[in-house]
Amino acid sequence: MSDANAPRAYPQPDWLPAHTLTAIAHAAGTPCYVYSRERVESNYARLHDAFARAAGAQRFAVYYAVKANPNPALLRLLLAQGAGFDVVSVGELRAALATGADPARIVFAGVGKRDDELRAALEARIGWINIENVEEAYVLSDMALGLGLRARVALRVNPGVDPQTHAYLATGKAGSKFGLSVEDTLMLARSRDALPGLRIEGLHVHNGSTITQRGVFAQSTRVMLDLVAQCRALGAAIQALDMGGGFGVSYGPDQPDADIDAMAREILSLSAGSGLELHLEPGRYLIADACALVTRVLYTKTNGGLRYVIVDAAMNDLIRPALYQARHMIVALNAAADAEISLCEVVGPVCESGDFLGHAVPLAPVRRGDLLAVNHAGAYGRAMASNYNLRPRAAEVLIDPDAPGGWRMIRERENLKDVLER
Ligand code: LLP
Repeated sequence: MSDANAPRAYPQPDWLPAHTLTAIAHAAGTPCYVYSRERVESNYARLHDAFARAAGAQRFAVYYAVKANPNPALLRLLLAQGAGFDVVSVGELRAALATGADPARIVFAGVGKRDDELRAALEARIGWINIENVEEAYVLSDMALGLGLRARVALRVNPGVDPQTHAYLATGKAGSKFGLSVEDTLMLARSRDALPGLRIEGLHVHNGSTITQRGVFAQSTRVMLDLVAQCRALGAAIQALDMGGGFGVSYGPDQPDADIDAMAREILSLSAGSGLELHLEPGRYLIADACALVTRVLYTKTNGGLRYVIVDAAMNDLIRPALYQARHMIVALNAAADAEISLCEVVGPVCESGDFLGHAVPLAPVRRGDLLAVNHAGAYGRAMASNYNLRPRAAEVLIDPDAPGGWRMIRERENLKDVLER
């Protein structure tokens, strides 16, 4: 008789099938980030279509948040779907430009942009620079005048809205380091004559990340529309409203997925008739669930009654569990369908107790050499990887029906020479 309370293994997503991940792990080695082109494309289509349905005649544009995953092959894939790019550093700017993207379809946000970064953005003639600081507005205005330009900017506002996510993923709460206060936003809109190098034509907000709660986007859209009206009343020709990213995905059976249609309606029903072009900056929603980090079991043991599975991926490969207590669905590839499931600690080799990939993971019995998939690892996974403990960073592979054999390497694994010589 089966016990209804017995732990159940997580399902492996259809687009990252166990047999494909196994074949890739044998050829490319582990740890290895494996992405599904099909899933990236369908995620983009789902988000785009949700906004298109809600938008009616209102114009909108999608800028992929490069920070979520800057792999050039993935950037090109998203560019081909119609995305522009949201960048936060000169490195990301260069990566976006290297795809051949129209510079006018790049937006640059960031709480502390260096002068060389602002200059690079101006020289590349990107679409928008998002201002987060009163001093930055004056620095940029002077720099643009020096180059004989007028920079098109959006003012990034801190809307004082709680996105109801992990504290480290909340950016739009009152008191956070991000954005301009409402008072400073209005002050800049009023001071346009003192900022002759700028064209203040947009407002920007990013509430936070992993938002799944209803109402967060409606609340911040209301704050922003009210500010658009106030800025326009002061004479600023605001044409665009950038509502940022943050659309959540479900990381487990107990977590809700963002209802992207509902979020699109929350934003667009309120902004209809405003004449604003809507900008969106999704990162996670497009890429998170399109990827598994595939890792190999090195050893198993029991300590203090806990069953430990020690794998060859670690916190330097995927820091989200250690940093945000994030749960990723970990699946034993090639386990028998009727295997008895028990709870395991899945940990890496790094010398820290915080180095774990999952606590109390429902897992089939595994032994040395078996493969595990750490799912939904595509956003802020390889992008946040480090060489901690002098560990080379993992390879990245794309499952792509157009590639010979069905997949291709999109970033080689670092080798020790890379790590030791740089
Ligand atoms: N726009 C701005 C201005 C942002 O700061 C971010 C993310 C995004 C867009 C994209 O947000 P998304 O759609 O991906 O939620 N490392 C954390 C996430 C940090 C997000 C930082 N900003 C994680 O692993 O969950």
